[in-house]
Amino acid sequence: MNSILHISCSARAEGSHSARLAAQIVSRLVAQYPQAEVRLRDLGRASIPHPDSDYAYSLAGATREGATGSLAHSDELIAELETADTIVIGTPMHNYTVPSSLKAWIDHVLRIGRTFMPAPEGKRGLLHDRPVYIAVASGGLYLGEQARQPDFLTPYLQAALATIGLRTLHFFALQGTVRSDDAVAAEWRHATALLDAQWPPPPVAIAA
Ligand SMILES: Cc1cc2nc3c(=O)[nH]c(=O)nc-3n(C[C@H](O)[C@H](O)[C@H](O)COP(=O)(O)O)c2cc1C
Repeated sequence: MNSILHISCSARAEGSHSARLAAQIVSRLVAQYPQAEVRLRDLGRASIPHPDSDYAYSLAGATREGATGSLAHSDELIAELETADTIVIGTPMHNYTVPSSLKAWIDHVLRIGRTFMPAPEGKRGLLHDRPVYIAVASGGLYLGEQARQPDFLTPYLQAALATIGLRTLHFFALQGTVRSDDAVAAEWRHATALLDAQWPPPPVAIAA
């Protein structure tokens, strides 16, 4: 294992719970593989453009003279993904799903003819599988008996990443970040204990 791609999606420079949880995962990986190089893609604070018209025409099969636009971003982001042996994503939940910064990244890396192909059985991923660790922070609860909101984030990321061939996903959650300091501290103890208990997660791919 030589390279870790760390994708950070919080807009907060300080006090981000998803960034802190993702950093704990990166530290564990680096302790396990000291030679690994960590590359940070900060989507939360250096946002990438949304797909533009050149990109949309290109995906619709049209070749346009001199087309550049966000296709270049797509090429760069896909190359970054292809060279990573392991991916760590730190992300907040926004309105029950991924934040728009991560959605823009997904729109650039799920590219027909490049990272997936249509097939009779559905879309077939063209990237080889590798572990993806996903640290999610949410203001409220979306897991467990106390959850009072839907979770579109987990199934969406599972479906989106499986489209390009990434099926070995490991989710870790830090919930209730808008609660009292004591409640957040208790949640951190719980999340860290879970991480300790589950580390290293077994390399199990999610069924297609
Ligand atoms: C635009 C926006 C939408 C949000 N939507 C949700 C939500 O649907 N569910 C939830 O539990 N928290 C929601 N939150 C709260 C964040 O998930 C929470 O503050 C989280 O800790 C942010 O991540 P960070 O600590 O890494 O910055 C939302 C926050 C923002 C700014």
